[in-house]
Amino acid sequence: MCGIVGYVGHERALEVLLGGLKRLEYRGYDSAGVAVIDPAGDLHVAKKAGRLSALTDELRAHPIGDGATGIGHTRWATHGGPTDVNAHPHLGDEGRLAVIHNGIIENFAALKEELLAAGETFESETDTEVAAILLGREYRATGDLVEAFRRVVGRLEGAFTILATHQEQPGVVVGARRNSPLVIGLGDGENFLGSDVAAFVEHTRRAVAIGQDQIVTITPESVTVTDFAGESVEVDAFDVAWDASASEKGGWSSFMAKEISEEPEAVANTIRGRIEDGHVSVPELDALGDGVLAGIDRIIIVACGTAAYAGMVGRYAIEKWSRVPVEVDLSHEFRYREPVLTPTTLVISISQSGETMDTLMAVKYAREAGAVAVSVCNTQGATIPRESDAAVYTHAGPEVAVASTKAFVAQITALYLFGLHLARVRGTMSEAQLTAATDELTAIPAKLAQTLKASEVIEPLAKWMADSRAVLFLGRHVGYPIALEGALKLKELAYIHAEGFAAGELKHGPIALIEAGQPVFVVVPSPRGSAEMHKKVVSNIQEIRARGARVIAIAEQGDAAVLPFADEVVAIPLAAPLFEPLLAVIPLQIFAMELAAAKGLDVDQPRNLAKSVTVE
Ligand code: G6P
Repeated sequence: MCGIVGYVGHERALEVLLGGLKRLEYRGYDSAGVAVIDPAGDLHVAKKAGRLSALTDELRAHPIGDGATGIGHTRWATHGGPTDVNAHPHLGDEGRLAVIHNGIIENFAALKEELLAAGETFESETDTEVAAILLGREYRATGDLVEAFRRVVGRLEGAFTILATHQEQPGVVVGARRNSPLVIGLGDGENFLGSDVAAFVEHTRRAVAIGQDQIVTITPESVTVTDFAGESVEVDAFDVAWDASASEKGGWSSFMAKEISEEPEAVANTIRGRIEDGHVSVPELDALGDGVLAGIDRIIIVACGTAAYAGMVGRYAIEKWSRVPVEVDLSHEFRYREPVLTPTTLVISISQSGETMDTLMAVKYAREAGAVAVSVCNTQGATIPRESDAAVYTHAGPEVAVASTKAFVAQITALYLFGLHLARVRGTMSEAQLTAATDELTAIPAKLAQTLKASEVIEPLAKWMADSRAVLFLGRHVGYPIALEGALKLKELAYIHAEGFAAGELKHGPIALIEAGQPVFVVVPSPRGSAEMHKKVVSNIQEIRARGARVIAIAEQGDAAVLPFADEVVAIPLAAPLFEPLLAVIPLQIFAMELAAAKGLDVDQPRNLAKSVTVE
């Protein structure tokens, strides 16, 4: 949600800002705008509802002045609809300063009342304009943008990343953050601010993540970070591990198609350096301190959306291997049920972006209650890993398509590495068992490549099913979360009603939905893992087939038992049962993508969704 870019330097700010906003498009937005200060010291603003192309059309039709200082924004509407007027930037000090903001200012109504009483007027329905007007007043009182900004952010409640620039101080952009992301890009004679590194990675790969409740001031030659009281703060720079080309489509029809094709590499990169000669070790977990993992007696995994389904898959493996009880909770449900948390409870958060507000709040809640927090995250410098006791990064590379694919398999991989590490520390697996499991995991990237090939049968199927009104997904054991994920993908991308069920639950209700022609995907467990579970799922297939369902089975190669009862079979390579989800999810991701494409929908940016949900 909401993308933010700030620039000071020697380039044309407009170009830098529009390039940055383009790279932040994936976050999800419904309007966009920019403000630049020209060399004569005049502030110019352009903003437009709709896609970034609407803003560039507007700039072409009505060009504005340009300079080397500016801020840019993509907005995902919260307070006030996605209109031109509500789009950011918002102005203060009679049009001399511009403000952009991501988050929700919770006390905006009280502040607005105060400002109205003081005779101020407002153009938009946004909470952001309140901050802009307030900043204008403080600027007139102090004559100093940084001091005025410090006073304003000190009065704001809620979550925000906020940037401002004033025409009387060209060459300066100020920013602050609380519970929302903001990263600095360090350049040569130029500096950048962004919601994430994608905003500036084509200009610099040297970055600094700004901490909670901190203010940053950038000029072309300097970067100053303080806390909200104005005390200076030490910062650490890091190098962004990927270059700009990693977040480009590179000849693929969509980012999603590209990211699915990258799944073998995403898993291989996540394993790299963590399994050596059959020995598994996740060095980042050392940050927890000696004895902490050995003393854990309960694990709660918190996450949202696809990440939560990765957590559900991870539960089966971590519990089996380490014998520590594992629960999975949606981040937004977790803290409101007042969970029992102790210093021996480990809360594992999973978040591709590391910015999902619900998950961030769950982590904060857990730590305040004394639990230990480990984050599984794909984004360097993100807020959630910074707020955790230790962070296990997935190395899936930037994921741009809103619907998560390669991050999902990388998250499961990271959870498996964690589970094996924990089992080793606690002595719950023999060396031979650990080696067998690490061998299975290291074989996954090659099997993923084979699965991608085998999934070619999906495209014609998806085209054929483009008019389906509803699709059901069934799975058992680790196949159950995969059924849920298959259904989520289809909802997100193709806007088709889709539901995933545990196959064992079928006779307790869902079977009533089956009528002639109803498509049902069934994730079939390997007969080599549990002959009993396999038999039960094959029986389920027969039951729905007898009632007219059209069955598409995802089954391991050579599983002859499903052939007589399935209309289509997608065969996946043989893997130990716990590792099958990493493969079985691929045809389901491809199905959702191909079906959305067949319907002519935007595969990368489905309606109403945001990649990074930074409000609760
Ligand atoms: C949004 C996205 C989903 C994603 C979820 C969690 O809902 O549309 O694709 O799974 O957020 O995101 P996270 O960044 O925390 O993994």
